[in-house]
Parts: sequence; C-alpha cells; structure tokens
Amino acid sequence: MQLFGTQEIRNNQFYMGGVSMEELKETYGTPLYVMDEQALTENMRLFQESFRHERLDTEVIYASKAFMNRAMVRLLKDSGLSLDVVSGGELYTAAKEDFPRERIYFHGNNKSPEEIAYALKEGIGTFIVDHELEFQRIALLLKGDRRPQRILLRVNPGIEAHTHEYISTTKNDSKFGLSIFDEATADFIKKMASDRRFDFRGLHCHIGSQIFEEESFLKAAKTMVEYMRTLSEKGVQVRELNLGGGFGVHYVQGDEPLNLNKLFEKLLAQLYTLLEKENLLPVKIMIEPGRAITATAGITLYEVGSVKKTFGGMHYVFVDGSMADHIRTALYDARYTAKLTGRMMDPQSDTFRVTGKACESGDILVKEVRLPLPRPGELLAVFSTGAYHYSMASNYNRLTKPPVVFVKDGGSRLVVRRETYEDLIRNDL
Ligand code: LLP
Repeated sequence: MQLFGTQEIRNNQFYMGGVSMEELKETYGTPLYVMDEQALTENMRLFQESFRHERLDTEVIYASKAFMNRAMVRLLKDSGLSLDVVSGGELYTAAKEDFPRERIYFHGNNKSPEEIAYALKEGIGTFIVDHELEFQRIALLLKGDRRPQRILLRVNPGIEAHTHEYISTTKNDSKFGLSIFDEATADFIKKMASDRRFDFRGLHCHIGSQIFEEESFLKAAKTMVEYMRTLSEKGVQVRELNLGGGFGVHYVQGDEPLNLNKLFEKLLAQLYTLLEKENLLPVKIMIEPGRAITATAGITLYEVGSVKKTFGGMHYVFVDGSMADHIRTALYDARYTAKLTGRMMDPQSDTFRVTGKACESGDILVKEVRLPLPRPGELLAVFSTGAYHYSMASNYNRLTKPPVVFVKDGGSRLVVRRETYEDLIRNDL
C-alpha cells in the first residue's frame, strides 16, 4: 500500500505523526478521525509553491468544504492560502479565527439574504455570483458608502471531466453558474461590469472533482480564455480567472493522481501564452483545491466489533463507525484502502466487506478489502479519509460524530471533541 506524509510501519504497526494507533485509541477512543498535521501544512505549501508563474499573478484558495474546523482555519491562516466558503457556517468558523476577510471567497448557488448580509458585514473579499437574481439580491443589500464589492461570476464552460456524476459540475444542466454558450450570459456580464456598486473582477469555473486527466484542466483553461476574448470584444476586461479545484487523489491502488508541479507548470505556461496572444493580460489565475490538500492526510480509525460470514458467502467486518462518519461509499460508490493497524504486514486471509453500525444495508465503508481475519478489539484504519468525511458526517441513527485529532512529531492533540449524547439533544425542544 502507498504511505503518505508521516505514515510509517514500525514492527508491523501503523504510525502517523510518530504516534501509534493503539496510543490514539487509549487516549481518545474510536471511531476517530486522525489528521497528519505535517502533511496538511506540507500540502498547503506544495500548492503555494507550485502554483506560480514568473509573469502571472496567482492565488491558491482552499475549498473549506473538504475539511473545516477552527484548528484547520488556524493552519490555513499561517499558510498564506485564501479561503473558499459556501455557507454562513463556514464563514462563521473562519471569522471566529479571524481569518483575513479580504482573502475569503463566498461561493454557492443559493446564498440566502441572511448569509449575504452577514458576509457583507464581515467585509469578505469576493462574492462568486451564481446567477442574475442572486446578483440583484447582493446589490439590494449593499450599503452605499462602501467600496465597490468585488465579484466573480461562476460560469459553466461545458467541460465534462471523467468523474462521478454527482461530483461533476459542468454538464449543461448543472445547477451551478451560467453557461458560456448562452448569449444572455455575456449580456449579464456586461451589466455587472458596468455597475458602479461592484468591482467585477472576472470568471470562475469548476469542472468537477477527483479528476485525473490533465487534459480536462487544460481544456477548461483554454475554453475560458476563448470566452475571455469574446467578452473583451464586447468591451469587458476579465482580470481574474479562477479555475476551481478537482485535483484527484489516491484512494486505492490504480488511482494515479496528476503530478501537480508538472500540471501547474504546463497549465500556467499554456495560459500565459494564450492570454498574451489574445492581448488579455494582466490576468490573475486562481485555483481552489480542497481534497488534494486534506484527503491523504487523514485516516479514520475504528475498532473491530465482530466478523460474520453470511450464508451467501459475504464476509463482513463490523466496526464501531458507520455511513454516518463515512458516507462516500454509499453516496458515490467510492473505494478505499483499509488495514488492521496492528498487523500491517500479516498475510491476508480473505476478502472482507467493512460495514458499520447503521441500520441500513447500504451502510458500507469499504466494499472489498483483503485482510487477515480480524479479531474483535483490533483496530482498523480506513485511508485517505481526510476530505469529505468529517465535513460530511451526520448523526444518522443518533450516532455521535467522532472527534478529530491532529498528530505531529510524536504527539497528538484533540481539535474537535467527541460528540456526546447531550450534544444530540441540545437543540431538541
Ligand atoms: N471549488 C468549488 C467551487 C467546488 O465546488 C469544489 C468542490 C471545490 C472547489 C473543491 O474541489 P476538490 O478540490 O475538493 O475536488 N463531496 C464530494 C465532493 C464534492 C465537491 C464539491 N465541490 C466527494 O466527497 O467526493
């Protein structure tokens, strides 16, 4: 199996951040989200350093939906990355840690008036406008005496990246943004650009998630430049181009993530050439990675409760978590790597299905994995769960959400505490 960040195997035992899983279980219990703090900061740095071009201004914006809490915001603040938020809640979390408002980008296809008013009050840098009615809604809430509000428009460039249908966003019927093939879009852009209350900066697109094809990104960039030329002919200058996130990561053997250094070098070089040729410079180029920063930095640690072989031949491993803390398998048919953390190198005995406690047949964490025969009480880690796990967790079956622990340099610290039964009824009247 592939190890990431500070992950290592010592005497058949799995370690991350220099800490053994046994120790984490003793201290925090299971199930447990464990994040490799050094890997997180390293990944942030990698993006900051590789998404650069000597003649283009660039910016890396972290998509907080992948994994967010106050400790993560603190790391981001130090990293120099900007922040993409999609809800009042994400904005609130960032504001609580006093994340620089100028570096916050507010996304979403249905921002409520309350969220817009809150974001305006906080003085966030940029709204990514989704459609015209939303633009009007923001305009209505602007106060007269402030600087023009920076905005980008989310557009749909019609690129279809090879990814799961639910996480691909640029088909013609996507709910996000406005199509560049619709002539009304350019008219709307002209209108925004000439509105004095706003500072129309440019365009945003996001072609999907968990993408492994370089060509998808290059094609999106090229299509966007062509559209920028169309707009320029209509008298609108685009000064910022945000290409979104979507950089695929490793979950199972066979997943081959792009070399980001190479991708960015090629992407930015291509962009520079095209923009210069079309006389569209200067343009600032942005990206919004989420998964690629956090996914492989995280694992989920479970305790094996039991094993059971069905009459039909399915060999189940029951763990103390569920689809409530791990929804991606049920939702996207996602695949994962799992290991017994105390017997990393032992020979495998059978193919197992890892399932949890939820009252539902679809409660599958890992569909198929080769393991030694698990024993009750042993620890099982599911890998690459640092993105869209903690952030997508629910309380289905009134299960409490696992805590989040950061490990680093042989130590660990709790950054989100385990939910209690009391937390579950907190809002019940
Ligand atoms: N920017 C925008 C506007 C987005 O919509 C997204 C993801 C990102 C950036 C970050 O994409 P990333 O680099 O993480 O692929 N829950 C799904 C993923 C949904 C992604 C939604 N948007 C999953 O678990 O696979």
